Formats: sequence, C-alpha cells, structure tokens
Amino acid sequence: MSETKDVLILAIESSCDETAAAVVKNGREVLSNVISSQIALHTLYGGVVPEIASRKHIEKINQVIEEALKEAEVTLDDIDAIGVTYGPGLVGALLVGVAEAKAIAYAAGKPLVGVHHIEGHIAANFIEHKELEPPFFSLVVSGGHTHLVRVKDYGKFDIIGRTRDDAAGEAYDKVGRVLNLPYPGGPVLDKMAHLGNANYPLPKPLDDDSYNFSFSGLKSAVINLAHNHKQKGLEINQNDLATSFQNVVVDVLVDKTIRAAKEYGVKEIMLAGGVSANKGLREKMMEEVKHLESVELSLPPMKCCTDNAMMIALAGKVMYDNNKFSDLSLGIKPHLDLELESIGGD
Ligand code: KG4
Ligand code: ZN
Repeated sequence: MSETKDVLILAIESSCDETAAAVVKNGREVLSNVISSQIALHTLYGGVVPEIASRKHIEKINQVIEEALKEAEVTLDDIDAIGVTYGPGLVGALLVGVAEAKAIAYAAGKPLVGVHHIEGHIAANFIEHKELEPPFFSLVVSGGHTHLVRVKDYGKFDIIGRTRDDAAGEAYDKVGRVLNLPYPGGPVLDKMAHLGNANYPLPKPLDDDSYNFSFSGLKSAVINLAHNHKQKGLEINQNDLATSFQNVVVDVLVDKTIRAAKEYGVKEIMLAGGVSANKGLREKMMEEVKHLESVELSLPPMKCCTDNAMMIALAGKVMYDNNKFSDLSLGIKPHLDLELESIGGD
C-alpha cells in the first residue's frame, strides 16, 4: 500500500502592514506562523503609510522566512511549494512578497502559488474546523473589504453583497482616529464598546432589502457628533460613543448575514478578516445563529483573524491540489476581485 506524501507549503504575506511567513503541513497542520507587525510604526501617523510599509517589509522579510522554516524544523528542501499573496493590497507591499516568493521558487526549484488575500482570510477557518468543506457562507470583514460571500466550492465564490464605500474595519479605524485613539481603532473601540452604553443615537446604514453595506454615512455621523460636542465645549463619553457605533455596525452585519442565510438555505456560516476578531460581532452572531435551525457557525481563532501567512498557506494548498500554479511572470494585483480572479474563477 502506498503512503500519501505530506505536502508542506511555505507561504508569504505582505499585502499591508504585517510581514508574515508560515509553514503548513497538508493544508491543516500549522508548523509555524511568524508575524512581524508594523503597527507600532504606523501608529505614529494614525494609519498605514504605504512607503514605510514597503521599506519595512524589505527589511524584515528574509528574517521572518528564516524564522518560519526554523520554527517548523524544516529546510527549503523539504518544502513542496511557495505560496504568496499577490492581491489585493498595497502595491509596494505586495511587490516585496511576490518578488521574494519568485526568487525563492526559482532558486530552490519549487512551484509557485499566487494566493488571493481574501481567499486566505476565509481559509483561516479551516484551522480549528478541520472538517469544514464548502459550500458555506462567509462574512468577510477586514480593513479593506466587507463582503457577504457564498463559497460554492473551493475557489468558487458568489459575492451577494459588498460595501458601497468604506469597509467595516476602515470605518472603525477612521472613527478611532477622530477620537484620538491609537491605530488601529478597531480593537480599541471594541474594548471601549464593552464599557459603555448606547446613549448616542446613530443612523442605521443602508437598512434596506439588499445585502450591500455602507459605512461612510455612519462614520460621518460619528465624526459630526464628536465635532459638534467639541464646538459646544461639551465632553463626549467615548465609551458610550464606541458602544453606540459598534452596536450599529454589528447589527447591520449580523442582520444582513442572517437574512441572507435564511434566503439561501445556508447550513454553515463563517466569519473572516480582521473585524471578525470583534467581540461584539462574535457574540451577536453566535446568539442569532442559535435561532436558526441546523445552521453551524465557524469563527476563526482570534490570532488568525488579522493578516497572517498561515491562512495564505491554507488557501495555497487548495490551489496546489488543483494544480493552479503560477509561473515566474506572476505580477501583483492590488485590486484583485474575488469572483473573477479566484482559483476556480471561470
Ligand atoms: O484583515 P486585516 O488584518 O487587514 C486587511 O486585510 O484589511 O484587518 C485589519 C482591520 C483593521 O481595520 C482593524 O481595525 C480591524 O481589522 N480589527 C477590528 C478588531 N480587530 C481588528 N475591528 C473591530 N474590532 C476588533 N476587535
Ligand atoms: Zn487581511
């Protein structure tokens, strides 16, 4: 009887402000997951400065990859393929990861797999839910995206709703900036939201029959409220404002996801992306899914919600299995769309 050989993927992620590398065995077992975060650096400017991000990626990338191999107790020889995020993301930041991955693939004679960043976020759920298989429904909420996605099969996506303007995480970060909170505002506001009361009335954005979202009006309402208070010399209760803001964001995300799940007869809902670390969102989603008959909820582990390379290795393994390899002409795609460019895209 022939034994199936283990498949080891070394993956690289550098689409925004984390330089990350990971080694994953057979698409489920994480041997290492190294992340060098630039957050402290960008905090000084209140947001990600693309030029600084690219420069920092260049400084860190070799070290991060070496650490990932060392921690996994493997060498490049043991690796079966190199996975890398090639979009969407910041131009210069993506370039660093893709150039590095191509150089390693060429020098070590390994196949190269270009991975869609959002496909990676969705795949992060496979770590704790190893049995998870499409079809399922995913609410992707990150700093750059807010998508309600039907994952029909590996690499086959239908986006049934998306944000018309700001992404959920982007709205958190912009509100955080107005309230002079450290970057990124999302995790800080989440903590504050648990300490306050929803005393400030805010508009519920795009409260309609569609599955689309809009956060820019809500963000402006918070900013106006903060400015009006300042002009009148009134103190704003920041915790109360955080609670009011978070309740509206969470309500609209959960309401639309649950309504879509009912309409499409979904059996499995999962969260993905940085904002899926939000405690309020996780709690409310758990509560609401309980009321649906035989629907399961999958939440990514907290440490795998925000950007990491483990998730890129998981998505890369699916592409490896489907022989979706890239060649050395792989370029970056800063505005890569999930439906059109995913591995199974027709
Ligand atoms: O997925 P991610 O690391 O990067 C992108 O692909 O965009 O997401 C980062 C975003 C940031 O906007 C950050 O504020 C948000 O995720 N975030 C949160 C929380 N943790 C991270 N937003 C709300 N609540 C949180 N606990
Ligand atoms: Zn991300």
